[in-house]
Amino acid sequence: MRKVVGYVHRHLAQRPSGDAEGTAWRYSLMNWGHDPLAKESEAMTRQLDDKVALVTGASSGIGEATAIALAEQGAAVVIAARRTDRLESLRGKLSDDGARVLAVELDVADQAACAAAVESTVEEFGGLDILVNNAGVMLLGPIVGADTTDWDRMIQTNVLGLMYMTDAALPHLIERRGHLIQVSSVAGRVPSRGAGVYNASKFAVNAFSESLRQEITQRGVRVTLVEPGIVATELRDHITNEAAKNSVNARAAEMRQLQSADIAAAIVYAATQPDHVAVNEILVRPTDQGW
Ligand SMILES: NC(=O)c1ccc[n+]([C@@H]2O[C@H](COP(=O)([O-])OP(=O)(O)OC[C@H]3O[C@@H](n4cnc5c(N)ncnc54)[C@H](OP(=O)(O)O)[C@@H]3O)[C@@H](O)[C@H]2O)c1
Repeated sequence: MRKVVGYVHRHLAQRPSGDAEGTAWRYSLMNWGHDPLAKESEAMTRQLDDKVALVTGASSGIGEATAIALAEQGAAVVIAARRTDRLESLRGKLSDDGARVLAVELDVADQAACAAAVESTVEEFGGLDILVNNAGVMLLGPIVGADTTDWDRMIQTNVLGLMYMTDAALPHLIERRGHLIQVSSVAGRVPSRGAGVYNASKFAVNAFSESLRQEITQRGVRVTLVEPGIVATELRDHITNEAAKNSVNARAAEMRQLQSADIAAAIVYAATQPDHVAVNEILVRPTDQGW
């Protein structure tokens, strides 16, 4: 069967497009599960074929969806997080779909591990074009009487971790005129009661990223801030303050939440613009989110 399909593909390639015999052969191929035009148009729509992307927090939610979406655009993807079992199953799925993929265990709070993740990326794929700094935690709760270990985790992960990853990646992004994509939040634009330290962490991401943008944009490196509203992920499951968790879950249940793929699409939009177009900020809320 493979030989026949190969013969028909070659035969079709020699025919003028749209002629009756060619169309008949094409339908035969489609009956056998091979559509040459579909393959051709799939290849034509992939815009990141020669790019290498590293996504932190790729073991679930927005990071996982982003890794899948970037791979669909042809990028080689490095998926990084602490839960290696989750990474392994994503790695299998992506490579079954034909993607070039590397899974790396990473705790972004560990600066040496951040440097090692970037090094592994460059060793495996020869460089780094796109860093998606997505790893994060949202441990909501009031400031008065807070468990300050939650504060440590949020600052270490959302702020220092993102800074360590940025620091490790910058020489490569500068060399390849690459793209830094920071997953911030509406919480980085609008403070609210009960989210003080999460707000502070995402405001820090926004300030750091805009300052860095001014340093490096004229060297050809683009910086994009992505600021989602409520997205249906496991992010809220990790909140340690029960009242805060119940409250945010109740608010989320009242609306049609964003899905991780919605944010992945925004990231792909920024990453696939021509080199002279820097999409610096994308704020995406659910239509039903009134704050
Ligand atoms: N969901 C929302 O409503 C929402 C809204 C605005 C912004 N965001 C932002 O979107 C990003 C992704 O969140 P999500 O909603 O997709 O939640 P999620 O499903 O809980 O994903 C968080 C990811 O971060 C990783 N992570 C956490 N701590 C880490 C660490 N120390 N080192 C490495 N990876 C770590 C987790 O992987 P491991 O646990 O396996 O390490 C996981 O893959 C976060 O920055 C979050 O602040 C989310």
